[in-house]
Formats: sequence, C-alpha cells, structure tokens
Amino acid sequence: MKVLVIGSGGREHVLAWKLSKSRNVDKVFCAPGNGGISRVAKCVNIKANNIKALVDFATRNKIGLTVVGPEDPLTKGIVNEFQKKRMKIFGPDQKAAQLEGSKVFTKEFMKKYHIPTAAFKVFSTSAEAIGFCKSVEFPVVIKADGLAAGKGVILARNFEQAVASIEDIMNKKIFGDAGNKIVIESFLKGAEISVMAFTDGKTILPLLSSQDHKQAYDGDRGPNTGGMGAYCPTSIMNNALYDQVMEYIIRPTITGLQQEGITYKGILYAGLMITETGPKVLEYNCRFGDPETQVVLPLLKTDLLELMLAVVNQKLAGIQKLNWSDESAACVVMASKGYPSKYRTGLKISGLQNVNSNALQVFHAGTEQKGNQYVTSGGRVLGVVGIDKTLQQALNKAYQGVNKIKFEGAMFRRDIGSKALKPKTSVR
Ligand code: AMP
Ligand code: GLY
Repeated sequence: MKVLVIGSGGREHVLAWKLSKSRNVDKVFCAPGNGGISRVAKCVNIKANNIKALVDFATRNKIGLTVVGPEDPLTKGIVNEFQKKRMKIFGPDQKAAQLEGSKVFTKEFMKKYHIPTAAFKVFSTSAEAIGFCKSVEFPVVIKADGLAAGKGVILARNFEQAVASIEDIMNKKIFGDAGNKIVIESFLKGAEISVMAFTDGKTILPLLSSQDHKQAYDGDRGPNTGGMGAYCPTSIMNNALYDQVMEYIIRPTITGLQQEGITYKGILYAGLMITETGPKVLEYNCRFGDPETQVVLPLLKTDLLELMLAVVNQKLAGIQKLNWSDESAACVVMASKGYPSKYRTGLKISGLQNVNSNALQVFHAGTEQKGNQYVTSGGRVLGVVGIDKTLQQALNKAYQGVNKIKFEGAMFRRDIGSKALKPKTSVR
C-alpha cells in the first residue's frame, strides 16, 4: 500500500519512518516533508493546509492511507473532504477536531460530562473578562479560544498581567479571530504528562505515557515552546493512575463525544496535570504530540499501518492490545538560537552522519537539503532520540548524539528527563 503523511516536522518524520517499516507499506510520501524526511519518504511540494491539492494528489497516486500530522488541516475539515471521495484518512473529522480547535467548546464539553479540569469561565468581551479578574485569586491562566500555534495560553500572575493579556488577545487581536472569545481558568499545580490513545470512536487503545518539556530553558524557565524534549515511559504513571485516567478522562471523553453525535477516530491526546486531587485535563489535541511521538513510536512493536487502518475501518476491537518494547526513549530537541522568538535559518548542520543507528535516531523538524548539505529552516531543528534499557541510558545516548551535531547557535536543554530519574514503579 502507498501511504501519504501530511506535515513537515519531527512528528511527521517519526510517522513516515515508522510507517516505512510496516509490513504492507510499499511507498511513503510526505507533503511537504523536510530535508530529513526525504531519507524515508518521497517529499511532495504541497502545503499541509492545501486540502484540495492533497485530495487530488492522493486520488491520482492511489494512496491507500493518508495520515494527518498537524491540527490545522484537521480543524479545517481535511478528513471530511477525503471521506467525500471515499479515500481512507487517519484523523478526526472537523467536528471531532473542535476538541483542539476550540477551547470554549472543550471546556463546556468537559463540564457537561464531568471530566476533571480546571474551574473556568468564558468571556466574549474584554470588559467582562477584566471585571471578573478584579475578584479572582492569582495566578490564573488565560486562553484564546481558537488555534494560536501553541502560543495562546498565558499565565497571569497578577491583575496587571491579566489586563495586559486580555487586551492583547481580545482588543489587539494578537492571535486574530482565535481571540474573539477567551477562557480564564484556575492555575493547577502538579506534574504534567501526555497520554495519547488510538480510538475508532468505540474501542480505545492507549499508548505509553510520555512527558514533554515545554519551557525553552533548563529548570522549566523561559517562554513556552512547542516542546524541547520528551521521554517515555514516565515514572509518574502507575497502574492506579492509569485506571483513573481511563475511567475519569479518556473513556468519558469518547462516550461524551458519541452522545454529542461525534465519532472520534484517530489519536486523542490528553495533556494532563496530575494534581493532589487526581489527574485533570489541561488540553486535548486531536493529533499526535510533538516531540512526544518521537519517543513513543520507537517503542511500539505493533504494526503501525495495521493499527491506523483498524482505526479508520472501525475495527480496533480486533486488536487486543498494543505491544511495546520494555526499553526507554529520550528526545533532546536542538533548536535555533532565539527560538521561540526570532531566529536565523539556512545555517549549515554538520555531524549528522556520525549519529544514526537503530538506538540513536535523529528526526528532522526544521531542516532543508541543499545539495549534499542539510541546513536549518525552522525554530525546532532536530529531535535526537536515544533508545536504551533505562531512561538514564537513553538520555546518555541522546546527549552523546547531540554533542556530535553542530550548527551555529544550536540551543538545547541539558536537563531533559532529570526530574524523572527515580526508580520506576510501573511503565504503564
Ligand atoms: P496548552 O497549550 O493548553 O497545553 O497550554 C500550554 C501549557 O500551559 C500547558 O502545557 C501547561 O504547562 C500550562 N497550562 C495550561 N493550563 C494550565 C492550568 N490551568 N494550570 C497550570 N498550567 C496550565
Ligand atoms: N508537545 C505538545 C503538543 O504536541 O502540542
């Protein structure tokens, strides 16, 4: 079968790499892909949100399965367009993708179905939002309703910061129409983990849990980013917590959606805060997380194409459970100097040829190939992933890889996984 992966980041590189190893995959295409992805897939120059061109490409090339990486085309309804042509595509349809596309929809949904999350209020005018902030306890978290490329969540520590953020989002429209409405919610304390699950709208198969590192600098300091590193599995997850996450969060989400007339097919990603009073949902994503997927998929032993087809064909009940390696994986993201603000591109990357083995993978996020040379083309440039018996060994491997790769101003965190280096209680 021919498969098409849509997107151009580290997530899409690991998806294309893993699919290229699937028994029944003959050829992998990636649109638009990047420099590194061209090692495992044929990159086609179509942007991820050019839905019409993607439908045409998939039809002309008899693509058996299309896999959508980023949220943007999902919230714009790419799945509905493929389905109209009876083409198989992995991901939720437009209605189901609202779970990521609208924070107002999602918070109200969670309230209706008693899914644990931070207490919140929704506002459509800045005056009302500011009025509300006069009587809240700080800090609070202010969230733009719509998609804002991961930047739409602001922590306000006091009234002045809250006013400035509300005005930026609702009056100055720094995130455009995504800021027509906002959610203000209480600040949750605890450890954050990511839980992803395959679902066909009926059956749910969770993946191993992972942990992202959102802040740019060591010690969780600095601005939020798309993610500076991750590891899998987490030591926080144990059997009791797993049962709670499934019983109070993942299952009620899928059944709640069913009751709303929405069949969710694809990957459901729950970003969770593990608080003193149990796990609470920070956000849902309607797709694989990045960089989390770079550490989860290398440990998956079940055939990825089979799983994705089972989701699309609503036959997931036929797969009893997922099989996993009992190793650990750790990803260290190498980013451009200045990320997540302004950064230069076009810088030569050297040393890549020294670091590829089965247990040390380099997934490309923002790279371009110029002749025989890879150059930087984005904020997050590479994900260096070590796989080994223990998390410590996986981290050592990843950092050994990082030390061999050079580009001007390369920035990376030196403390990925350090909070987790405690004995594991359970891996699930
Ligand atoms: P999101 O884009 O919704 O994942 O938010 C980005 C990050 O903001 C999350 O990964 C958390 O670290 C943080 N965050 C979001 N909501 C809350 C909250 N209610 N309390 C504490 N931190 C939060
Ligand atoms: N790593 C968080 C995300 O994919 O949104």
